[in-house]
Amino acid sequence: MPVAPDLKFPMKKMTLDKLLQTQGFGTRKACQQMIADGCVSLSGEVVTEYDDYLEPESLVLSINGQAWTCREHLYLVLNKPANYECSRKPSHHPGVLTLLPPVFLARNTQPVGRLDHDTTGMLLLSDDGGFIHRQSSPKHHVPKTYEATTHDPVTPELLALLSSGVKLTDEPAPLVALSCRQLDSHRIEIVLDQGKYHQVKRMLAAAGHHCDALERTAIGRLRLDVLALKPGEWCFLDEAQRALLMPAQ
Ligand code: URA
Repeated sequence: MPVAPDLKFPMKKMTLDKLLQTQGFGTRKACQQMIADGCVSLSGEVVTEYDDYLEPESLVLSINGQAWTCREHLYLVLNKPANYECSRKPSHHPGVLTLLPPVFLARNTQPVGRLDHDTTGMLLLSDDGGFIHRQSSPKHHVPKTYEATTHDPVTPELLALLSSGVKLTDEPAPLVALSCRQLDSHRIEIVLDQGKYHQVKRMLAAAGHHCDALERTAIGRLRLDVLALKPGEWCFLDEAQRALLMPAQ
């Protein structure tokens, strides 16, 4: 389990059983049992009491011998592999949540927005409702960068159409890319500040091109490549990285 000691949250004082519950280790009773069973150590000493009010941030906590950093909320990036669904109830492929440790799911961690099952790349996940809302609300215009592989060679007309706007049947106004550039003969980078259903694929289709593969490579100013995650790997985001997710002021 990766631990990011730089990631500190102002958590209020609480008893050890309550703290374990907030971290996703089960019901209060189950957490009390874990403590009674000797599974929990503080500063290297097994503890069997849970009456004292503790300061979560100053604890050196281990669970079953594994170091554990207490976090009020989880802010994660997953490098989503192809053939995983972002839906809570996946129907044809495994869900992205199966790629996370089960304790995170007990904290109601959810994907922030969705990528199609065949889209790869940067996916945020969190258990902080306010963060999820700020990231996904169209009001906040968080730019998302994609690399799209086209079936046919990229043409100047394709780039011009995406930059000037393409009309989709169910959208009242044309959809315009914030920016768009050619990467090689069959690949473009496109930046969008909306998150309409299948938006990149439908914009390409409206411009007469089929999208063979799609990867999200950045959200705001945070790029996936700097996180060095292999497909299926995830990491915690620290405060500085989270600040990069919002548009520059
Ligand atoms: N646009 C798409 O078409 N698919 C995605 O998964 C994301 C953006």
